[in-house]
Amino acid sequence: MRKSITLARSQSQHIDPFLRESAPYLLITGDALTQLRTLPPASVHCCVTSPPYWAQRAYDGGNGLGSEPRWQDYVAHLVDIFREVRRVLRSDGSLWLNLGDTYVKKNLSGIPWHVAFALQDDDWLLRNDIVWDKIKGNPCNARDKLRNVHEYLFHFVANEQYYYDVDAIRNPPQAATYRNGKLVTPTGVSGVKYERQIKTSKALSAQEKSAALQALQQTLARVAAGELPDFRMIIRGSQRATHSDSPEFSGRAAELAAKGFCILPYHKNGTKPGDVWHIIPEDQWRKDHHYAVFPLELCDLPIRATCPPDGIVLDPFAGTGTTLLGALQQGKRGIGIDTSATYLDLAKQRIDAYLATQQVVQGGLWE
Ligand SMILES: C[S@@+](CC[C@H](N)C(=O)[O-])C[C@H]1O[C@@H](n2cnc3c(N)ncnc32)[C@H](O)[C@@H]1O
Repeated sequence: MRKSITLARSQSQHIDPFLRESAPYLLITGDALTQLRTLPPASVHCCVTSPPYWAQRAYDGGNGLGSEPRWQDYVAHLVDIFREVRRVLRSDGSLWLNLGDTYVKKNLSGIPWHVAFALQDDDWLLRNDIVWDKIKGNPCNARDKLRNVHEYLFHFVANEQYYYDVDAIRNPPQAATYRNGKLVTPTGVSGVKYERQIKTSKALSAQEKSAALQALQQTLARVAAGELPDFRMIIRGSQRATHSDSPEFSGRAAELAAKGFCILPYHKNGTKPGDVWHIIPEDQWRKDHHYAVFPLELCDLPIRATCPPDGIVLDPFAGTGTTLLGALQQGKRGIGIDTSATYLDLAKQRIDAYLATQQVVQGGLWE
């Protein structure tokens, strides 16, 4: 059984006990930049966080972050903070940054992208811009614009080589089914349409038709045997190569030109998630004072993909501890920083309630 340790602000520079004793989590009260400076370099595997958004609300003791009169100063503050995060991250670590936007005098500020560009200028590599579709969003009475229902989640890395467990986040493949005795893949491919297109094609030679039909039958047999979850076929004159028709730019176009067809097999472990996520915002913790909690589901994939088993996840704007809870639920550990002792108290209650269900002994101090 593991013990939890929480440290008061004055003790935060002494994180050795946390690292040494493999405690599940560490909570530090204080300003993100100041407290990050007390953490040792290369000590965490990934950072998943949502800082105060610009010009949206004031936080308990928040040091003014988010209430800068000029958005340029907000962006500069975040660049400084995430430079310190980069020092604390291992060289193969990842930063996942959730940000929302705001209007100033009817003008959408574009803050998430201003921040993303500034971080790129500060040598971060942007790997994905995930659109978080909040599905419900807030009611909007404006009569001259659409409802705003999305925010961004940016995935940044410091180096081209980084830890990413793609198999940990794949959507598990569905099994093929049979309709009227005929095999149908999970996305509805039975081969009938491809067969017809090949047989009636005016763009394929007789030899190419024969090779294409043989490849189709072999691929269907692999699906039936459970070796392949699904596939697509591109046939000259019937489908386009996805990226470009020019063999110069696309390997598929080159294959299509040479053979007249190509088979696109799906990965045996399932498909990768896309970059639009449909997640309903959290509302449970709003009842407990905090107004900007992000949903557990939002940090699940980032932690799964970019924090190794037994790794440490950092959230320098931890609030009610959603990121830390997500880390603990995956058997990983977490460090949270927040200026608000009230929010960290909620985080502690929330995390300890979870640990109690896992029969983890709770202990340590927190002021
Ligand atoms: C958008 S909320 C994060 C909510 C969090 N993801 C959760 O699930 O509860 C931003 C948090 O940043 C904290 N905060 C504001 N200014 C800060 C600063 N300078 N340093 C550290 N935390 C700060 C606020 O108290 C607030 O809890």
